[in-house]
Amino acid sequence: MPRPRRGGDDEDPKDSTFGERLPGGGSLGWRLDREERHPSLSPELVSAAVSAPIVFSGIQPTGRKHLGNYIGAIRQYVEGQDRGDPAIFCIVDLHAISVAYDPAELRERLYDTAAILLAAGLDPERCIFFRQSDVREHSEMTWLLSAVTSHGDLNRMTQFKDKSAKQELVSAALFFYPVLMAADVLAYRATEVPVGDDQRQHVELMREIARRFNERFGETLVVPEMRIPGVGARIMDLQEPERKMSTTGGTEAGTVLVLEEPQAIRKKLGSAVTDSGREVRRAPEKAGITNLIDIYAVARGSDPEAVEREFEGAGYGDFKQAVAEAVVDYLAPVRERYAELRPDEAALEAILAAGAERARASAAPIVADVRERMGFGPA
Ligand code: TRP
Repeated sequence: MPRPRRGGDDEDPKDSTFGERLPGGGSLGWRLDREERHPSLSPELVSAAVSAPIVFSGIQPTGRKHLGNYIGAIRQYVEGQDRGDPAIFCIVDLHAISVAYDPAELRERLYDTAAILLAAGLDPERCIFFRQSDVREHSEMTWLLSAVTSHGDLNRMTQFKDKSAKQELVSAALFFYPVLMAADVLAYRATEVPVGDDQRQHVELMREIARRFNERFGETLVVPEMRIPGVGARIMDLQEPERKMSTTGGTEAGTVLVLEEPQAIRKKLGSAVTDSGREVRRAPEKAGITNLIDIYAVARGSDPEAVEREFEGAGYGDFKQAVAEAVVDYLAPVRERYAELRPDEAALEAILAAGAERARASAAPIVADVRERMGFGPA
């Protein structure tokens, strides 16, 4: 039995529902997505998991980050970095090569993403922050896990279907994307994976891969829990509030970029689509106003009910202006800090290198266990 990396507590793990007792659950607007218990987990692995979460998440180095990314993911990383022990955040450049890309551009976007996360408050002292391709264990683990990954499951991934429809060359890397993602998480025996709702199918698959590995080779890997953001998780396009804010699928005018100048932010919020009513309150038929209420609540650290009270009787024009100012105030410190950090690529490299070293120290013994279990190396 390979030793789990972390010691358990004294309680009988059979008495606890895996996941429910994870410290800090829900306090940051995340909720654990617990559809199932984990009967296959050994008591040791369960107690390792409940003592403190090992949080792992990956972020793509592609595209420009927008307010939806910021609220839905980046902010959550920053708030979650002290909850995980450790919290591990990885810029997933290996995933980025699964679609057409330019190498020089990839490097630029990598630095952009690193700088934005640091500007948002990710602290490399309080979390493990690194570049995926620096830690070769991810690549090795991908191949090893592919032995317990079903081709049929990969074929069913909706992201694969969606993305392959847009590619001239449908690469094998695109097909393998979910295996690499499973490797990212399972190589650390992470217990929690904070991701957007669009990643649900991928997390379910990695859980299946971990279970299948454990069945086939003995208890080795932790079946991670998905954690999806609660309030403010879905920031919608300002022009088409029925769809998510997105730099690829959304409208230009409806997408606020994190690094955008205040004047541009004001303009976009000023022309946000509302409805023919006049009440600042949330309702299914008031998608635009509901979205603005959510945005305002997050930007001011308030909650949607309080926002509705604050703007009772106010007109849409005044409300939109208030939202604009709130977003400007919210993003200004990030933009300023980014401008300081981004030019110093050597400093960014130093941070990523130190993070990679720590990541490797965590992943290497787990990948060694996996290798041994699978019959590699001397007996
Ligand atoms: N696929 C994720 C996304 O597009 C990014 C990702 C890669 C990830 N590896 C991960 C997220 C591991 C969580 C855990 O958002």
